[in-house]
Amino acid sequence: MSWALVYSRALAGMSAPLVEVEAHLANGLPAFNIVGLPDTEVKESRDRVRAAIIQSGFDFPARKITVNLAPADLPKESGRFDLPIAIGILAASGQIPAEALKNYELAGELGLSGQIRAVRGVIAMAWAAQKAQRAFILPVANSQQAALLHEATLYGARNLAEVAAHLNQIELIQPITSDNTTPSTHCSVDYPDMADIRGQQTARLALEIAASGGHSLLMSGPPGTGKSMLAQRLPGILPPLTNHELMSVWSLQSLLTSTQQQFSHQRPFRTPHHTASAVALVGGGADPRPGEISLAHHGVLFLDELPEFDRKALEILREPLENGEIHISRAARQVTYPAKFQLIAAMNPCPCGYLGHPKIACRCTVDAIARYRHKISGPLLDRIDLIIEVPSLSSEELFATTSGENSADIQKRVLSARQRQYERQGKINAHLDNKELDQFAHIHQDAKMVLTQILEKLSLSARSFHRLLRIARTLADMAGDQQVDTNHILRAVSFRRAL
Ligand SMILES: Nc1ncnc2c1ncn2[C@@H]1O[C@H](COP(=O)(O)OP(=O)(O)OP(=O)(O)O)[C@@H](O)[C@H]1O
Ligand SMILES: [Mg+2]
Ligand SMILES: [Zn+2]
Repeated sequence: MSWALVYSRALAGMSAPLVEVEAHLANGLPAFNIVGLPDTEVKESRDRVRAAIIQSGFDFPARKITVNLAPADLPKESGRFDLPIAIGILAASGQIPAEALKNYELAGELGLSGQIRAVRGVIAMAWAAQKAQRAFILPVANSQQAALLHEATLYGARNLAEVAAHLNQIELIQPITSDNTTPSTHCSVDYPDMADIRGQQTARLALEIAASGGHSLLMSGPPGTGKSMLAQRLPGILPPLTNHELMSVWSLQSLLTSTQQQFSHQRPFRTPHHTASAVALVGGGADPRPGEISLAHHGVLFLDELPEFDRKALEILREPLENGEIHISRAARQVTYPAKFQLIAAMNPCPCGYLGHPKIACRCTVDAIARYRHKISGPLLDRIDLIIEVPSLSSEELFATTSGENSADIQKRVLSARQRQYERQGKINAHLDNKELDQFAHIHQDAKMVLTQILEKLSLSARSFHRLLRIARTLADMAGDQQVDTNHILRAVSFRRAL
C-alpha cells in the first residue's frame, strides 16, 4: 500500500469541519510536497513532520511523497495537521496498518523530537469526532478539556511513537475518562463572598434579583462604594455551571488557547477595560475569534466605567443582548459565536464621580454631566433591566462589625426562585420574549391598573415596560408568589431608576 487516508478537523467558528489528509508515495526522485495548506506554513510543517518521524525511530521514505489536505478552501492552521500527516506517511509506507485509520481522527502539532503539542479547539473537534463515531487521538495536554465529553472515545497521546504503537496494537493508549484526567476537573470553585460587603442593602438585593431572574444591572455611584466588589460576587450566587454549560464555556476558551492551561469550573467573569477595541469586545479578526462577550457566555460581563467605552462598541452589544449570540463576518467568512452573558455595568454619576455625594462637592459643569450620560445610548439603556444607585456608606455602616449575609445562603434562595421559573416556563425570566411574558407573568387584576397608570405617567417605551414586568415577575418568584401583585410592580419600578 503506498496510499493512506487520515481524518482530521479544521476549525471554523465553533464547528470543526472534517479534513481528509491523503498521503501518497510514488517512485521517482525523493520529494515531500503538501497540497492544501497556505504556502507559508507548508515548509515548517514539512520540517517538523520529517524530523519527528526520524527522531521517533521510523523510516522517512526516500520516495516522492505527496500529502493532500481536502477540502482546500477551509481555514487551516497547519500545526494541528502535523500528526495526521506523519501518521499518513507511516501508513502509506507500511509502517502502521492503513486499515486501522478509518476509525480514528487525529490532531496535534509535532515537535522535532516527536512530542505532540497542544492545539486550539479540541472540544469542538472531539465533539465532531464523536458524532462521526470515530475515536479521537489528541495531544495529552488537551485531555482535561476533552474529558468533558463523556460519550466520546478519546486518547491523549504524548508523542508520535505512542500513537504508532497504539495503531500497531503493540501498546494501547488508555482512553481518557473524566476520572483519570487531572483532579482539577472535580475541584470546588471559590468565589469572593457577599459577606465581605458592608451595608448597600439595596444593591445587595438588586444583585440577588439579577441572579434570580438573569437580569442585567447598571450600578451608578461615587468611587469606592463597592460597585466592583458587588459585580465580582455575582458568579458566586448564581447556580453552579452544568456540564453542558461548562462544555460550551470551555470550547469557546479552547478556541483562543492551545496551551495546557487548566480550565476552571468557575462561571466566567469577564472585565474588559474601557479602552478595549470593538474586536476585543465582540470578536473578529482575519480568522474571526471570539471576543469578551463570548468568553462571558453563561457568565458575567462586567463593564466598569460604562460611559468610557467606545460608543460604537457598546452599540454592537445590543444584538447579543437580545438574542444571545454574535454574528461576525470577515471577507468571505461568516461565523456565529454564542454570547449569552449577563451584563453588569457600573458608572459614576458624573465625570468627577461625586454628584449627589453628601460630603464631597461635585466639580462638574452641567454640560459635562449631560455629555457623560449621553455616552450611553437610550437603546442600550433600554436593554438593561435593573438600574440602581450605590450611594456612599454612612460611617455607621463603614464601621459596622456584623458582616452581611454570605453567598451560600443567598445562592440557595436564587436556586429556588429559578426552580419556580423553570417549572412554570422552562427558562428564566430574563429570557422570556414579550409573548411568553404575557403568557406567564400572571398579573393580578389590581396590579394591571397600577401598571397602566405607570405606563402613562412615566411614558415608558414598550421595551422598558416589558423589562419592568420581567423584574416584577422575578420579585414574585423570589417571594414564592403565583401572581404578580401591585407590591411587586412598585418595587420593580424602584429598581429601574432613571439616570
Ligand atoms: N460596601 C463596601 N463594603 C466593604 N468594603 C467596601 C465597600 N465599598 C467599598 N469598599 C472598599 O473599597 C474598595 C473599593 O471598592 P470598589 O472597587 O468596589 O468600589 P467602586 O464602587 O467600584 O469604585 P469605583 O467607582 O472607583 O470603581 C474595596 O476594595 C473595599 O476594600
Ligand atoms: Mg470599580
Ligand atoms: Zn462631578
